[in-house]
Amino acid sequence: MLPLFALAAFASTTLAAKPIHSHNDYLQAVPFWDAFNLSIMSVEADVWWQDSQLFVAHTSGAIDKTKTLDSLYLENIMGLINGSITSATPISVDNPLQLLIDMKSDGPTTFQPVWNALQPLRTAGHLTTYANGILTQGAVTVVGTGNTPLASVVALEPRDVFFDSDIRHLYSTLPSVGVTPQWGPEITPLASVDYSDVSNTAQMQALVLNAHDFKIRSRFWDTAANVATWNTFWAAGSDWVNADDLQAVSNAWAVFDSTVAPALEKAYAKQEL
Ligand SMILES: *[C@@H]1O[C@H](CO)[C@@H](O)[C@H](O)[C@H]1NC(C)=O
Ligand SMILES: *[C@@H]1O[C@H](CO)[C@@H](O)[C@H](O)[C@H]1NC(C)=O
Repeated sequence: MLPLFALAAFASTTLAAKPIHSHNDYLQAVPFWDAFNLSIMSVEADVWWQDSQLFVAHTSGAIDKTKTLDSLYLENIMGLINGSITSATPISVDNPLQLLIDMKSDGPTTFQPVWNALQPLRTAGHLTTYANGILTQGAVTVVGTGNTPLASVVALEPRDVFFDSDIRHLYSTLPSVGVTPQWGPEITPLASVDYSDVSNTAQMQALVLNAHDFKIRSRFWDTAANVATWNTFWAAGSDWVNADDLQAVSNAWAVFDSTVAPALEKAYAKQEL
């Protein structure tokens, strides 16, 4: 049985955005903005803790000292929320942003600086937070991936950095000491896997439904990049299609026929997004 708070939180936070995730977003021509201007409300930044800064880069060799988590992401996000940057559709609880922080440097060392960097958003009350058994949607949901240590996420109280778990293992017991013995959105609002580790479309569909049973959203990476593939994921009700060509995936979504999605997944149907 899922705790009631989890069900309530999920029901009240129907995915408001396009089901598109900007994979390696910092590699776009204009990081963050190319995605945001297409109403793509899930972006991914690879971060390296080096020289007391959080640089955003694919490899440590590609670090450009002007590109930090703050300069590319957190300042823009804060500006859009507080109105210092104007937008017709600012980031808000009703139009939330999912920020995937892929910790590339050592997880336990990188975790605290990432937590610290979120302090302005935290202080202003903009982060999705789990406290006292209640998950409260904020304007920004931060999900740690890559080397993010599960134990550090579980230990946070209140918790405002979440964990990208392996979607294949949600039925296993949470492998960490904690109050919750099973996976749920208060630990892992998002569960993912490399699509090359999935046997076929049927298994993918089962994984999506399993995740939704746990009120967890799904994402598959390392997927083929073509309209037929994206449609297959959307038809399965998969929540965040991994996109590198943001315009092409947005175009495909614009003409996707959501009536082919399973009836069970009607909360994800296009008209409600
Ligand atoms: C995004 O939209 C804003 C506001 O319309 C605009 O000023 C900015 O140039 C756009 N940026 C990109 C990269 O499209
Ligand atoms: C809004 O956010 C921007 C970007 O982080 C910051 O520079 C500015 O001081 C903030 N303004 C207010 C009123 O909080």
